[in-house]
Amino acid sequence: MTPKKILLLNLLLLLNASLIEAQSTLQYSPGTEPSNSFPKPRIACGPWIQAAGETEFTVVWETNVPCISWVEVAPDDGTNFYATERPKYYESRYGRRPVSTLHHVRIKDLQGGTRYRYRVFQQALLLDEGNKRMIFGEAYGNDFNFTKIEFKTKTLDPSRSESRFTMVNDIHGEDSLFRRLTKDVVKEKIDFVIFNGDMLSQIESTQQIVDGYMKSASELFSPFIPIFAVRGNHEHRGSASYDYMRWFPTSTNEPYYTFRDGPAFYIAMDCGEDKPDNDIRYYGLSLTDQVREEQAEWLKQVVASDEFKSAPVKIVILHIPPYSKGTQWHGMREINRLFMPILNSAGIDLMLSGHLHSHHYLEKGTTDNNFPILINSNKTRLDAIIDKERINLKIVDADGKIVHNYLIKND
Ligand SMILES: [Fe+2]
Repeated sequence: MTPKKILLLNLLLLLNASLIEAQSTLQYSPGTEPSNSFPKPRIACGPWIQAAGETEFTVVWETNVPCISWVEVAPDDGTNFYATERPKYYESRYGRRPVSTLHHVRIKDLQGGTRYRYRVFQQALLLDEGNKRMIFGEAYGNDFNFTKIEFKTKTLDPSRSESRFTMVNDIHGEDSLFRRLTKDVVKEKIDFVIFNGDMLSQIESTQQIVDGYMKSASELFSPFIPIFAVRGNHEHRGSASYDYMRWFPTSTNEPYYTFRDGPAFYIAMDCGEDKPDNDIRYYGLSLTDQVREEQAEWLKQVVASDEFKSAPVKIVILHIPPYSKGTQWHGMREINRLFMPILNSAGIDLMLSGHLHSHHYLEKGTTDNNFPILINSNKTRLDAIIDKERINLKIVDADGKIVHNYLIKND
């Protein structure tokens, strides 16, 4: 090889090495795009409202690339969103803003029963050299002027005379059914939507949550109407099941929590697995006996609290009911052993369940239950209107037809 060729080869090797080094420091491989072009951060799914309360709510959304994010909030007072600088709320992970594709921003110190507009923003991480150098791209937000859609939601209001909600359960990733059941919830002027478990059959990736129901929820209602979600037994399963609480954070940071809306106090509970924890299909990973034991101790404190006792109406949300037409599996037996004695003496007005994939309305006393239990099927939604005197329940099928109707008078 001639000296000229050796020099040329060395130059090529040097160029190649510097290209590899440059690419390795980039957060995103440019791929087919020009080398100076980075993906634009976009909302991949959401937003949706979690952990709503009288004075706060949490906005959650997913972006297509890792970003830092924030939310700006304005009262729904008729002013232009751009009339003035709006307060910014950031996600804080122990005092540091996380770079992530899933964003949780808690908005607090709000007024009860008040509607707020909000705007979500994200900035992609373009270059990550650790503490030496981090470069973020330009900010992107949902643009009200461009899309004409303003995200807005309302805080809960304990002083209101009514509480209205819609519940779905056991969707098992059947997105088309989910869409048909929830397509009109925005029009119905409800306060929140309940996901009462088994929305997927297992969670192998968070994309399954998107494809199974959350993309549709985002398009149909979730930027506007808070979601209260509880796990069914199936949400305990799959490689990405650990991410469930990141997608549906709660006010307690546990999969069980409470909230108050209008006259009703709601206890949202975690049913655990249906089979014993040592079942071969749980691969030694299931500890739901422990979660139910801990939850029973928490439940005792809840029913002893002034907030619970002073509420005119008391509702329990629990995926697995304490009832089966046949013999009971382990999870159900544990619910009967641990939860029912506490609930039966607490003055509960109604339990809402799913799991059985068929409709049942259990009058008080059907199965050692001191309160009625509504078990919604996997093909219907439940619409509820609750005031101090009565609980009005309608079971509606995917065609919008009311198939069952119940009126429960409060004692
Ligand atoms: Fe289930």
